[in-house]
Amino acid sequence: MSKKIIVTGGAGYIGSHTVVELMLAGFEPVIIDDFRNSKPWIIDRIAELAGRYPLGHAIDCTNELEVLSVFRNYPDIFGVIHFAAYKAVGESVQKPTMYYQNNVGSMCAVLNAMKECGIENLVFSSSCTVYGEPETAEVTEATPVQKATSPYGDTKITCEKIIQFVKDSGQPLKATLLRYFNPIGAHPSARLGELPSGIPNNLVPYITQTAAGIRSQLTVYGNDYNTPDGTNVRDYIHVVDLAKAHVKATEWLLQQQGSVCEAFNLGTGKGSSVLEIIHNFEKVNGLKLNYAIGPRRAGDVEQIYAKPAKAEKMLNWKCEYTVAEALKHAWNWEKTL
Ligand SMILES: NC(=O)c1ccc[n+]([C@@H]2O[C@H](COP(=O)([O-])OP(=O)(O)OC[C@H]3O[C@@H](n4cnc5c(N)ncnc54)[C@H](O)[C@@H]3O)[C@@H](O)[C@H]2O)c1
Repeated sequence: MSKKIIVTGGAGYIGSHTVVELMLAGFEPVIIDDFRNSKPWIIDRIAELAGRYPLGHAIDCTNELEVLSVFRNYPDIFGVIHFAAYKAVGESVQKPTMYYQNNVGSMCAVLNAMKECGIENLVFSSSCTVYGEPETAEVTEATPVQKATSPYGDTKITCEKIIQFVKDSGQPLKATLLRYFNPIGAHPSARLGELPSGIPNNLVPYITQTAAGIRSQLTVYGNDYNTPDGTNVRDYIHVVDLAKAHVKATEWLLQQQGSVCEAFNLGTGKGSSVLEIIHNFEKVNGLKLNYAIGPRRAGDVEQIYAKPAKAEKMLNWKCEYTVAEALKHAWNWEKTL
């Protein structure tokens, strides 16, 4: 059987780590990424870690004709992992149409090309943002999806719905909706990692940039939440564990008979507070961080962490790295930039 799989956004943070794991597992990824939020040299790093170059096309994933022509170029493609999207919640509030155009537009282009070429397998990058502010901090896949609080969150809910509707329409489709919690860290080799553009939106790149002196101070947004130390609680998952889950999800799809659309929570099952992450980072890296407590930030969910039992059982996957290791790897990566 062919091992070729399209990976949109394959030069990005999670995509690049996934491409490496796919190649190490014997798959042949075909990257579609125009590097709008990544760098071409990431492809060299992938080759360094995987021992060979992946196939790739620098095209815009919302361009239906170009996407279709890449799909047609490889008649033996068996599936798609769709990462390509914008991901900054705050920016999505400022530029909603840009987010819908890219995130939903690329999803439709991919699904149309899959239909045209008879490709059935799809792994979609979703997010725990679909759960909004949940009633209980621990969420399962049965926890209700809530009205989104940002355009970004709504693009994820919308894409999940589109995939479900396409399956219901009778188009043969086997899909996994992978709901990521908070990916952090970098490749243990320090050759791949996160490349935030501008001021980081996420905690860990902000921490590493503060430690590196790029940012003068880290602000903790609120310490009066109803959590053990008053700061927000999230489920931080090592990016390599997340990447490996994509390999498992791809293998799982290949075992399925008939159409299917299944959501999976990808997290560690443990929550860490913002202060715990800061202190853990300081401890594992022997550093002191300059941080201050600020007011709450609008739209932040108080606490959320995954119950990953479904992915563990059905995908035969489990997180292997600790948060401490992820924070060590994140710092090792930052030092190379
Ligand atoms: N990083 C997170 O915290 C997080 C959490 C939950 C879900 N996700 C989702 O995971 C996916 C990957 O996230 P990431 O952190 O790797 O982001 P990223 O920005 O590092 O990677 C996205 C990649 O897609 C490419 N891209 C975007 N739009 C494109 C287009 N129209 N055509 C071609 N290439 C395009 C970018 O150049 C980039 O290389 C996204 O769908 C994101 O929403 C990320």
